[in-house]
Amino acid sequence: MPAPIKSVAVIGAGTMGAGIAGLCASIGCDVVLLDVKTEIAQQGIDRLCTGKRPVITEDQAKNITAGSLDTDLATISACDWICEAVVENLQIKRDLFSKLESIRKDGSILSTNTSGIPLRDIYQGMPERMQRDIAVTHFFNPVHIMKLVELIPGSKTDTDVTDRLAGFFDGPLAKGTVYAKDTVNFIANRIGCFWMLAGLHKANKANISMETADALMSKPVGLPPTGLYGLIDLIGLDVMNFVSKNLDTNLPATDPGRAYLTMPSAESNMLKNKQLGRKTGGGFYKMIKSDDGSKSMEVFDLSNEAWRAMQPASLDDQHNDIKTLMFSDDDEGKFAWDLMSSTLSYASALVPEISNDIVNVDRAMKWGFNWAEGPFELIDSIGAKKFADKVSASGGKIDGMLKVLLDSGNETFYQQDGSEYLNAEGKYVSVS
Ligand SMILES: NC(=O)c1ccc[n+]([C@@H]2O[C@H](COP(=O)([O-])OP(=O)(O)OC[C@H]3O[C@@H](n4cnc5c(N)ncnc54)[C@H](O)[C@@H]3O)[C@@H](O)[C@H]2O)c1
Repeated sequence: MPAPIKSVAVIGAGTMGAGIAGLCASIGCDVVLLDVKTEIAQQGIDRLCTGKRPVITEDQAKNITAGSLDTDLATISACDWICEAVVENLQIKRDLFSKLESIRKDGSILSTNTSGIPLRDIYQGMPERMQRDIAVTHFFNPVHIMKLVELIPGSKTDTDVTDRLAGFFDGPLAKGTVYAKDTVNFIANRIGCFWMLAGLHKANKANISMETADALMSKPVGLPPTGLYGLIDLIGLDVMNFVSKNLDTNLPATDPGRAYLTMPSAESNMLKNKQLGRKTGGGFYKMIKSDDGSKSMEVFDLSNEAWRAMQPASLDDQHNDIKTLMFSDDDEGKFAWDLMSSTLSYASALVPEISNDIVNVDRAMKWGFNWAEGPFELIDSIGAKKFADKVSASGGKIDGMLKVLLDSGNETFYQQDGSEYLNAEGKYVSVS
């Protein structure tokens, strides 16, 4: 049995660090939360237990001790797990890890919550002990709600380290661990950002309204009600732009996602005008509050870059189910096919590059992006043979796991009620 994790240090008390500290405190761990100043760490704790929907109780908050990196760094020497969640900056993270490594106890674990910096860039040239004891632990926002934690070992990370972390996440923390590889944006954001960035370009060319694009990219394909534009409003167009830049630096040269890294012209103008989404009071959508207290929604029409009243889309039956939608020969069907087939084909081609198997990919999209079914489950629902025939007929490439499936002579990625999946060798094995 790997040694349990009972005490935790979290460095960085922003959105993610405070969230991780709160989660650990809520199950009774002793937590140290450090930031550049003690007041910032304390504000992080206060945010957790105040407001309309407190995340932890005042009693649970007593399990967290706030401190500063200047005066309290020595307190991490008592901790089993030290989780770094400071700003996304390689040099800041490396400087911090050098300090942490010299103070932490033997047998403790180090991790980074980075969303995009390769782990190898963080541990490169660092002491052997650190290279054995470090991993990426990528939580999703909001930490107390999202089930997914992506766990990524480095090339020298001990399996005991990943076993202890996964045991802690899947056990006491009640999260869902997904095993990913040290590749850009790991699993969920690699596929999810492809879907969003490709979506902006493909919806732009489609002969449908933005409201229809969002209606199609939600319930009919098993995605959350925010759809495409609504999700980007939630995340922030500036964050998507930051993600694009990181992808530009780190995506392989031949990656199909490279085609979508530059924002379309209307979205570039929105960025320039700081029309970024919900956090700036409007992005693709905005809510209008009238003097009489009534509320209405407006949409920023990308075709003429002007606000207009939102016109809720109503979908026909054939557009409400992915099985018929993807094969409808109309504007709705063409858009849904264009975006979903390229995203599912992308996911298929990324195994085993980003994950050893399809199960971790499906779980990442369900637990991190709230998809009702993961990419491979969706292909099974559509019918893998029917899907592959249309990909080929449209001039697309059958790659990765879809090719493995067709070559194996089987028809589905999962069988026996989902208890077995097709591995990269084309054999069915048990889902763990
Ligand atoms: N916000 C998200 O949705 C999200 C999701 C997954 C992963 N991440 C990653 O988690 C990490 C933290 O993100 P966040 O959104 O919580 O950021 P944030 O800006 O909310 O918080 C960052 C914290 O780091 C502190 N900090 C800044 N410079 C520091 C330094 N030199 N030393 C120590 N602390 C310093 C800041 O005071 C701040 O409290 C980043 O690596 C980010 O990429 C963010």
